[in-house]
Amino acid sequence: MAKKSSSGRWKQRQARDPYVRRAQMEGWRSRAAFKLMEIDDRERLLRRGATVLDLGAAPGGWSQVAVARVGPTGRVVAVDLLEMDPIAGVTCIHGDFTGAEVREAIRRELRQPGADIVISDMAPNISGNWSVDQPRSMALAEDVLAACGEFLRPGGSLLIKVFQGEGFEELVRQARSVFDAVRIRKPAASRAESREMYLVAGNRRLV
Ligand SMILES: C[S@@+](CC[C@H](N)C(=O)[O-])C[C@H]1O[C@@H](n2cnc3c(N)ncnc32)[C@H](O)[C@@H]1O
Repeated sequence: MAKKSSSGRWKQRQARDPYVRRAQMEGWRSRAAFKLMEIDDRERLLRRGATVLDLGAAPGGWSQVAVARVGPTGRVVAVDLLEMDPIAGVTCIHGDFTGAEVREAIRRELRQPGADIVISDMAPNISGNWSVDQPRSMALAEDVLAACGEFLRPGGSLLIKVFQGEGFEELVRQARSVFDAVRIRKPAASRAESREMYLVAGNRRLV
């Protein structure tokens, strides 16, 4: 029998995945929406009335969850390299969040004192070569941590996807130097074989 291609295996896995089916049935744009719901049910990050900055937001599952949870008095600003279909109540910014123009647009949207929480499910384009992908994902996570100084109000929180591997412990250490409380979570909706973990950091210090 002919071997399945990796895209064939991916399609088969998607078709069998209960979270993919649930996301389609319930109208979530990504199965990742369940990861955020699960983490937030435990950590209570998305409070009503909060201002949320969602970095790497497309196709928009996390933004859908965020806007539903912060309610009509809250705000969600979503940024992605890819164009994202609009979501009611979400302001979308198109571009690289590290670029000067995009950063200016984010600052304008958030206004002072900045977001109450930054959430980032960002990942670089995965090449499949881990020695290339791991440093790229760590560099992206470090950029997000640095961006907190610009976009997150003092006392605010961060939720960020990080891949376990080289640089992971150093990133946790860096987060601890900026935030009072840092925890690592692996929601059930995150595939067990995936190296992805979620770092939850609370109470950004004024440094
Ligand atoms: C896993 S997806 C996010 C899924 C999203 N949380 C959801 O629930 O729909 C990661 C996203 O990060 C975006 N991304 C990666 N690097 C970025 C960057 N430098 N600036 C903005 N977006 C970026 C990618 O374009 C991609 O859409």
